Amino acid sequence: MILPGKKSDFNDILDIINDAASAYRGIIPADRWHEPYMSEHELQIQIEDGIRFWCYFDNGNIVGVMGIQDKSDVTLIRHAYVRTAVRNKGIGSKLLNYLSELTTKPILIGTWAGATWAIDFYKKHGFHLVSFDEKERLLRRYWTIPIRQIETSVVLASSNWTNINQPGLQNGIQL
Ligand SMILES: CC(C)(COP(=O)(O)OP(=O)(O)OC[C@H]1O[C@@H](n2cnc3c(N)ncnc32)[C@H](O)[C@@H]1OP(=O)(O)O)[C@@H](O)C(=O)NCCC(=O)NCCS
Repeated sequence: MILPGKKSDFNDILDIINDAASAYRGIIPADRWHEPYMSEHELQIQIEDGIRFWCYFDNGNIVGVMGIQDKSDVTLIRHAYVRTAVRNKGIGSKLLNYLSELTTKPILIGTWAGATWAIDFYKKHGFHLVSFDEKERLLRRYWTIPIRQIETSVVLASSNWTNINQPGLQNGIQL
């Protein structure tokens, strides 16, 4: 039921992202909201940048998507979206569990600070919010997003994430 996204799935993936992202309306800063939330061009760029989308199929239709991106020492989960009509049925959990099994590296997830439901969702799956300073550093290091998005986002990390790469730290020990 969970399959890698194919070229022919592009329009469905785009459609699900823009349907599910309607949850952000009135929640994320007004200057970051635009419609459609993601353009065809933007999605193309994200895929060219190395995000691999996985699709959850129900009765032959894609109803949820989630992206995974390798970033050398960590793995990012990007763009987790489940169709509004079928939310809260376990689809997001199944996608997250499936993608988490595809890597042994620590997983980082960035989301809007205002998307409290998404933060709770990831926390229930064992992720924790990193500190303000750490999220500022991580978003600059692993993501390519505008400064304004950094200011208004949070980062969650899997339990095997340790901040050993933080300046001034070696193997997690303060120098
Ligand atoms: C965040 C998101 C991907 C989660 O997907 P989802 O399919 O709704 O997630 P799940 O159904 O697995 O889990 C969500 C809730 O449903 C509950 N649930 C799971 N299976 C269920 C079932 N069979 N029946 C009823 N509820 C169920 C879960 O317990 C959870 O509820 P809780 O938070 O009160 O514990 C989805 O809400 C979404 O697309 N949101 C809008 C976009 C967004 O915020 N994306 C995150 C970007 S980083």
